[in-house]
Amino acid sequence: MDWANLAFGYIPTDYNVRCTFKDGKWGEIEVSSSEIINMHIAASSLHYGQEIFEGLKAFRGADGKIRVFRLEENAARIQESARGILMEPIPTELFAEMVKKVVKLNERFVPPYGSGASLYIRPLEIGMSPRIGVKPASEYLFIIMVSPVGPYFKEGFKPTNICIMREYDRVAPCGTGRWKVGGNYAASLTAGEHAHSLGYSAVLYLDPKEKKYIDECGPANFIAIKNGKYITPASDSILPSITNKSLQQIAKDMGLEVEARHIPVEELAEIDEAAAVGTAAVASPVAEIHDLDTNHKYIVSKDGQPGPVVTALYHKLRGIQMGEEADIHGWNTIID
Ligand SMILES: Cc1ncc(COP(=O)(O)O)c(C=O)c1O
Repeated sequence: MDWANLAFGYIPTDYNVRCTFKDGKWGEIEVSSSEIINMHIAASSLHYGQEIFEGLKAFRGADGKIRVFRLEENAARIQESARGILMEPIPTELFAEMVKKVVKLNERFVPPYGSGASLYIRPLEIGMSPRIGVKPASEYLFIIMVSPVGPYFKEGFKPTNICIMREYDRVAPCGTGRWKVGGNYAASLTAGEHAHSLGYSAVLYLDPKEKKYIDECGPANFIAIKNGKYITPASDSILPSITNKSLQQIAKDMGLEVEARHIPVEELAEIDEAAAVGTAAVASPVAEIHDLDTNHKYIVSKDGQPGPVVTALYHKLRGIQMGEEADIHGWNTIID
């Protein structure tokens, strides 16, 4: 495997793990080497979008050990997503056991330390019961598949440009934005492709109700550094990012003040640094934010380089994931 040149794409591995909720209870964990599932043509996931998922990573550390980052947080979030669209919540113990099992079974696909690559873990839950009326299923399938993925920053840790486009919303006010449901991603495809076609790495969405405040940055949370403070949007329509939560803790540990609050678009003129944060990249620094409706360009990075605070936060979090930095908050689960 050419670890350093892997893309963020699907690569088959040896096994996936599955568990079915049926007749009011979760069954036994099944280990499968098939990439195929057999399902009813009227399944609620296919017709009414009863689908939720997660994304987390396993890393090979400096000491050769495999670490999975914050799996309990992902378990808690998929439970929230399940409650959000009336699916069956997966117990934390079941989630944890299945994550550990699938990583161990696919150990040979965990990229080596220093390659910058990692093993992406993708849990997903789908409604399996046939439904023609709009109603939740009573049977659910929970699967965890994995795929090795390459380093996010192949050309180095460099800022990119993002854009504001008011013609698109990712989610509705009081909608499903705070849950990781497949439909949110379907709803973001047109905007994302439009932004990419114009040369931007992501859309910086505004709050869907008033279009006044910063919401999310493509499939990532937005953070900014302003006068030495870490600021990030507080909003009901964004996904509570586990990376953002972790970076907030690291920022506090570094002595920074953290503010989760509404960030008006105009405040972008006053920020010193910005990044899109999430599992894929940890932190992807922002160079410029172009408001395509007003034609205003917010220049975040004047020299085209990542700012010092975002760089320090990024290295600290990566260091914890790789076992190079002390895991003082107990975020890693070691697979043995
Ligand atoms: C819409 C959206 N926001 C934010 C994030 C970042 O969340 P996390 O840090 O838990 O990966 C993701 C996923 O990575 C996402 O899909």
